[in-house]
Amino acid sequence: MVECYIEDIGQYVGQEVKLKGWVYNLRSSGKIRFIVFRDGTGTIQVVMVKSELPEEVFEQHKELTQESSIIVTGIVSEHPRQKGTYELQLTDLEIVQICEDYPITKKEHTTGFLMGHRHLWLRSSRQYKIMRIRNEILMAFRQYFYENGFILIDTPLLTGSIGETAATLFETQYFDLGKAYLAQTGQLYLEAACMAHGKVYCLGPTFRAEKSKTRRHLTEFWMLEAEVAYLEHEGNLDLQEDMVCCVVSRVLENCTDQLEELGRDLAPLRNVQKPFYRIDYNEAVEKLQAAGSNIEWGHDLGGEDETILTNMYDRPVFVSNYPREAKAFYMKRNPDDPRTVLCADLLAPEGYGEIIGGSQREDNYDYLVEEIKRNDLPLDVYGWYLDLRKYGSVPHSGFGLGIERTVGWICGLPHVRETIPFARMLYKLYP
Ligand code: 4AD
Ligand code: MG
Repeated sequence: MVECYIEDIGQYVGQEVKLKGWVYNLRSSGKIRFIVFRDGTGTIQVVMVKSELPEEVFEQHKELTQESSIIVTGIVSEHPRQKGTYELQLTDLEIVQICEDYPITKKEHTTGFLMGHRHLWLRSSRQYKIMRIRNEILMAFRQYFYENGFILIDTPLLTGSIGETAATLFETQYFDLGKAYLAQTGQLYLEAACMAHGKVYCLGPTFRAEKSKTRRHLTEFWMLEAEVAYLEHEGNLDLQEDMVCCVVSRVLENCTDQLEELGRDLAPLRNVQKPFYRIDYNEAVEKLQAAGSNIEWGHDLGGEDETILTNMYDRPVFVSNYPREAKAFYMKRNPDDPRTVLCADLLAPEGYGEIIGGSQREDNYDYLVEEIKRNDLPLDVYGWYLDLRKYGSVPHSGFGLGIERTVGWICGLPHVRETIPFARMLYKLYP
């Protein structure tokens, strides 16, 4: 007999197969009993007919509980009216373990309770779909870079040089060599690698000791970063725009059912087409002030501001050229307005806000030294980074995209905590 997975079951109509998994749900109507059965690749309705089963097999249904692990054998049939929906007419049932008092029941639970039981919550159908979509999104990004000639460069997670800002570092003592930090970004290393390979990217966990308790912040999140030699500011935006359009369209193609089952309105996602809006920071501030925000020139946009701003647009919007004070030390000074830098944040529509932060990098040795000092960063640990401005310096640009914020936007979720298998936040270290 064939042992198979639910996702392949369509190939076995009329045949007897064995499936290994768990009870998702149970129903009974007299002489017919049902198990909604899941095996990790999908769910299927298992039908138990009293007249066709030995008494002891039929009666086993009574022992079953939600999440009991079982192995079922049966004949595959296609649903008479719903094409592509299959059922299993049970012939044999083996109980692996009866699950007692499964904590997640059909009643309403608070998100706090569910997050506390994340190790089990992952089995629920909504969380299952989100992880499947996350998987597709990550594959789509990797595919985009692979197909466009970018080389994957894995950057270190333990770093000696501060990548972004001293404000949000996780530190640890590193043998006799002093402090090491958990990487806030792989960017500095990608800058080195792009001088060797031209176009490079990395995709891995990054860490920020963020004391913020918002729906957009994690202390450990996955970032996709790219860096390209000889690429300048506008070209950097073109690259991001092309990448986001390709990824959203691939996810729409491959995950339509899952997105719809999550209740995601697909129209705004279908609208993610070139060209994205491109505005200047000054214009953003004027628009926000006119809309009642108390933002002042010189400050980064807050989450609230980004929400207001993106609700003015039906597609993603780039906000360029922020004031130097609001951004990181490595951004290139804007030749047209030295108070600002050549950077852009990409804000996702529908109130989601920043999903990408990117910039052209300062390629001038002296300016970069000035900025490292001005940001009170220790110059001595940046020797290697400064070397890149000494030995064949070229204009170069790149960006970082937050995977969880992107998954949250594409899935239409209110909070990033459901977009990552095990969220790490200010008040969350378990499970
Ligand atoms: O804007 P950020 O801080 O940029 C960088 O780290 C650059 N070094 C990237 C680069 O140019 N190579 O972070 C990039 C993105 C943000 O736009 C956001 O989507 C995400 O990372 N992000 C977070 N996501 C979840 N929780 C947090 N605490 C995040 N901080 C940033
Ligand atoms: Mg940013």
